[in-house]
Amino acid sequence: MDKLEGEFTLFQGKNVNILESVLVKLVEDYDNGHVIFIAREMSVKAGFMSTDEVMIATAASELSTNIIRYAKKGEMIISIIKNLKDGRKGLEIYASDNGPGIRDIELAMQEQYSSLPNSLGLGLPSVKRIMDEFYMESLMGRGTRVLVRRWMK
Ligand SMILES: Nc1ncnc2c1ncn2[C@@H]1O[C@H](COP(=O)(O)OP(=O)(O)OP(=O)(O)O)[C@@H](O)[C@H]1O
Ligand SMILES: [Mg+2]
Repeated sequence: MDKLEGEFTLFQGKNVNILESVLVKLVEDYDNGHVIFIAREMSVKAGFMSTDEVMIATAASELSTNIIRYAKKGEMIISIIKNLKDGRKGLEIYASDNGPGIRDIELAMQEQYSSLPNSLGLGLPSVKRIMDEFYMESLMGRGTRVLVRRWMK
């Protein structure tokens, strides 16, 4: 559970080709709006249908809300990517912060688990459901990294 030592292993564009990337710094609440805008724009550019575009923007928004809420600040890199194996295009969201970290990722991933009294605890489970690939790692006192991808069907 508690991971204190070691290095982060997740990084933007791990095991894929990056075609285009946009970095969004997260500092204030309103940066969430910027994330939603960029996620939609990049989804359209990648060629996703508008239903997918909305889903991807929702996932991006959940991740940026978590960063602002739990780590105060961080950054997101949203990229159009290409699968090395089959050449399919996709969208990747890499969320990174140097906040407190998550003690128990399995618990945090559970539906309706929240460390805050007035939150639903549905953010991360819905991100996982929306995206085709989901990776998360956290080092206590050092921060959290989330890497998610959705591929074109
Ligand atoms: N970047 C992060 N840094 C530290 N802790 C985090 C981070 N993201 C999530 N967590 C922890 O994981 C828990 C679950 O996150 P999740 O997004 O699923 O739910 P929530 O944010 O509590 O509620 P909701 O997203 O439904 O408003 C959070 O309550 C928090 O304790
Ligand atoms: Mg959340």
